[in-house]
Amino acid sequence: MPERTISTIFDEDHDRLDELFKSFHMLKRTDFAQATRAFEDFKIGLQRHMVWEEDVLFPLWENKTGMTEGGPTFVMRQEHREIGESFDAIERKVQTQNPESDQEEQAFVDLLDRHNMTEEQVLYPAIDRATNADEREAVFQDMNNIPEARYRTGCGAKQARHAGLR
Ligand SMILES: [Fe+2]
Ligand SMILES: [Fe+2]
Repeated sequence: MPERTISTIFDEDHDRLDELFKSFHMLKRTDFAQATRAFEDFKIGLQRHMVWEEDVLFPLWENKTGMTEGGPTFVMRQEHREIGESFDAIERKVQTQNPESDQEEQAFVDLLDRHNMTEEQVLYPAIDRATNADEREAVFQDMNNIPEARYRTGCGAKQARHAGLR
């Protein structure tokens, strides 16, 4: 089995989420119930992904490099907030069963694609270079130990903090 790296695990999760979002988009005008299920799976998955990064992965990088304010993870955290706000605009339409969300989706996908590309091309490889296999396995372990309530409630760490989960 090839060694698990930050890049392989996180790139794969990006791809899985992209597929769920595509399903939502393709189904929303023909089978709204199924589209909504894909949307919900996407939402929980995106929140989980951002919690993995903000609670486990980014702190490891920040501790290793001393780069916090103004560093790449600082920028990625800010982008998570923007992605969350952009997502909320789509969710408001889904909640009223309104499939006319193509514009909001386009804005969202543009943000998310750009963000994911930066992580895949720059940040994840840098973290892989800065860590050894044991440290990476510890990351995967910590990710698995995050309680579901931490990412079920809202989009990303901000809402979870508001919900008193931090
Ligand atoms: Fe991210
Ligand atoms: Fe990511």
